[in-house]
Amino acid sequence: MEKLIIEGGVKLEGEVRISGAKNAALPLIAATLLAPGEHVLKNVPDLRDTRTMLKLLENLGVRSERNGDVLKIDSTDLESGEAPYDLVKTMRASVLVLGPLLARLGRARVSLPGGCAIGARPINYHINGLELLGVTCDLEGGYVDATIDGRMKGNTIYFDLPSVTGTENLLMAAVQAEGTTVIKNAAREPEVGNLVDMLNGMGARIEGRDTDRLTIHGVENLNPANCAIIPDRIETGTYLIAIAATGGEGVVTHCNPSHLPSLLEKLRATGLRIEETESTITVRQPNGSATPGPLKGTDITTSPYPGYPTDLQAQFMALMTLASGISAVHETIFENRFMHVAELQRLGAKIKVDGHTAVVDGCSMNGLNGARVMATDLRASSSLVIAGLAASGRTEISRIYHLERGYEGLVDKLTALGARVWKEQE
Ligand code: EPU
Repeated sequence: MEKLIIEGGVKLEGEVRISGAKNAALPLIAATLLAPGEHVLKNVPDLRDTRTMLKLLENLGVRSERNGDVLKIDSTDLESGEAPYDLVKTMRASVLVLGPLLARLGRARVSLPGGCAIGARPINYHINGLELLGVTCDLEGGYVDATIDGRMKGNTIYFDLPSVTGTENLLMAAVQAEGTTVIKNAAREPEVGNLVDMLNGMGARIEGRDTDRLTIHGVENLNPANCAIIPDRIETGTYLIAIAATGGEGVVTHCNPSHLPSLLEKLRATGLRIEETESTITVRQPNGSATPGPLKGTDITTSPYPGYPTDLQAQFMALMTLASGISAVHETIFENRFMHVAELQRLGAKIKVDGHTAVVDGCSMNGLNGARVMATDLRASSSLVIAGLAASGRTEISRIYHLERGYEGLVDKLTALGARVWKEQE
């Protein structure tokens, strides 16, 4: 196993290029199961999670070939409908094959993903929605066994909470259903919009993109896709916060600032100066001088898009440990997403957790000290990287396979920004 070593206290400066979004790539790769033929996906990040999804597809009889960031996927020979436990347990998003397999083969056997470090994360919305479309779902031996005779039948589906992968799974299931399906209280995340665009490009008829009400008029056949993955808004936010936390200034390129409405306003509220163009974001320190002024403690509450993303909660908390005054971080999406708190405390952060709220007592710039810490999940790990970059001295982060699930070329990108960071064997 590898660990990440950071010699902190260096201001990050310069430019960093953002990759395609992990959470858009995963459903878009799954959607290639819907239509036989050769699909072309562009701007696909090369990550542990995208590799896992391709392995899962290979297991189903689907071939793929990567050339740079372009992925060709030929799903003509799809034969199996089974997503086994060994693959699903390493990546919850494997459940995204359920909808497309049912639409294409009329059957799917997908291992239940189980809980994970950030919460229980059930898939009851996915299952209930499929049943409303006429699918029979049996839960046996840790698997969902789902079957349908003929085509699914359009229906109205309402989510108690807007679920991202739930919306995506049901979109993929319903595009070829008979009649019209309406998903109410659908997730509005940009990754869902990316999937809607891909499916409409394949011949689907989906209305209501970027709204909480998606109307899907079923079609009989779909064509292979040719589609680009949107920039990763969580990677974008992570680098903006990392640059800011080290007292540096820099530009994040090949991103989409309109996908980060809440984060950019929260960064501005701390005093940071944020400038946007269509595809870049520049972050500068508050007082505009070479010496960084302390950031203002700022509260956040995570909520579904366009609210503040839960996937950027841990990173913002790391930034707030360096701000002046008190800030409150409310997590409303997942019940256990404060695993990074104990690790940030090892670097000297003053944080108290009370239920779904973490109260951070900021210690102003460079108030953290390097330490040995452990990565617990993907986004928690990136908050430890941010804290380690801002801290003085050496930080060692073990279990960095979590980071490799979602950050393409992390070490190279940080090194290009001036960070002293490298991997070592544990
Ligand atoms: N929920 C249910 N039942 C369901 C589905 C969801 O109760 O059947 C609840 C969840 O427990 C949670 C809420 O609904 O409280 C929203 O969860 P959602 O279904 O939206 O999460 P997800 O689709 O499993 C995606 C991202 C996560 C991200 C969340 C929230 C992908 C592949 N994953 O997960 O990304 O945190 O949306 O925005 O898109 C990450 O990238 O690190 C990551 C965890």
